[in-house]
Amino acid sequence: MSSGGITSENREAYMEKASKAGMKIETDPGQDVALQSETFDPALLFEPLRVNALDLPNRLVMAPMTRNMSPGGVPGADVAAYYRRRAEGGIGTIVTEGTFVDETAGFTSTVPRFFGAEALAGWKHVVDEVHAAGAKIFPQFWHVGLMFLPADDLDNSNAVSPSGYGRPNELTGKPASVKVLEDTILAFGRAAASAQQLGFDGIQIHAAHGYLVDQFFWDATNHREDLYGGKDLVARSRFALDLVRACRAATSTDFPISFRFSQWKQQDFTARLAATPAELERFLLPLADAGVDIFDCSTRRFWEPEFEGSDLNLAGWTKKITGKITATVGSVSLNTDLFSSFATESRVTNNMVRLVEMLARGDFDLVDIGRAVIADPDFANKVRAGTLHELTPYSVAALATL
Ligand code: FNR
Repeated sequence: MSSGGITSENREAYMEKASKAGMKIETDPGQDVALQSETFDPALLFEPLRVNALDLPNRLVMAPMTRNMSPGGVPGADVAAYYRRRAEGGIGTIVTEGTFVDETAGFTSTVPRFFGAEALAGWKHVVDEVHAAGAKIFPQFWHVGLMFLPADDLDNSNAVSPSGYGRPNELTGKPASVKVLEDTILAFGRAAASAQQLGFDGIQIHAAHGYLVDQFFWDATNHREDLYGGKDLVARSRFALDLVRACRAATSTDFPISFRFSQWKQQDFTARLAATPAELERFLLPLADAGVDIFDCSTRRFWEPEFEGSDLNLAGWTKKITGKITATVGSVSLNTDLFSSFATESRVTNNMVRLVEMLARGDFDLVDIGRAVIADPDFANKVRAGTLHELTPYSVAALATL
């Protein structure tokens, strides 16, 4: 998801615009566990992890977070310093903010691009800075499709979408031709090749949160009857499978591909792609076969069970089904979820005790940290030292600067 311009506006104005754009803001207290209530042992979070031929220094990943701070789509020295600072703070792996794969992919001019000499030179500097501080880094490839948010300032007349719907029942575009989809797939492949050439350690495909790839998965936005559509989720996965295959073909066989997906959509938090573990299995296994190495399973609260009858979360089920490396995410260390934090101040809590229990049980391998690592660049080092009481709480005001 995108911060969509909240950096330059006050919260009320942002929420009003966001609500007009159909983005839901809700207040939810989340899992609020008093900080000192239980003993916290961080050791497992700091074990290294091998992904193909890549060694990740620990289990903490900086989650992809749009910052809208790259004028003209070019990540500058300040963006490189921002990521380096988080690497110095002990985060093992960084997934960059969403970065646009081609001219049709974006909706704001300050989100960094992943094409064009100037933007790619900017990314090269980011990679070098992060590596100098000892962390690994993956770019996140993002295509918004027809899902526009309040800060939109680009020409959307060539927006790509499965059926002209960015939101259910809201026809705002036209179905993309197969040729346009093939061009988009090529753009993802080109971006993957550039990432490897620039020295990135892997890539992530953003297939979550109601953006283009998710618009194909979701029956409310994909009404196609050709090879990129159909009544069945597996049929609607063809576009994603082609993207994964294109990225795999454009890189060496051991170059890690991470795939971020979610049940929830910004357009509808209650939407679900898979209602049962069996459906999830039919959805995931072809993606794993196509070349996904890491599934980044996006949830808003990591402790929530995905299906009735088991306390496994989405990452837990995904690991059980595919045997692949999985990452969990959602409100780690915070008492608010991503959306409630637009409306409520957040507090640091001790929910990482539960997180480590789940990690120890083998539910997942990696943990994405989002807002907490924006608020506190030293998040990982403080967690390692067990000094959770020293963590800076997240506030939406933290988005004003890098
Ligand atoms: C996000 N998130 C997000 N996700 C994504 O896949 N690509 C993106 O570009 C963004 N952009 C973004 C911007 C901002 C300001 C925030 C706060 C979040 C979602 C993010 O990666 C993460 O999944 C959520 O924030 C939940 O993690 P936390 O914040 O609860 O730890």
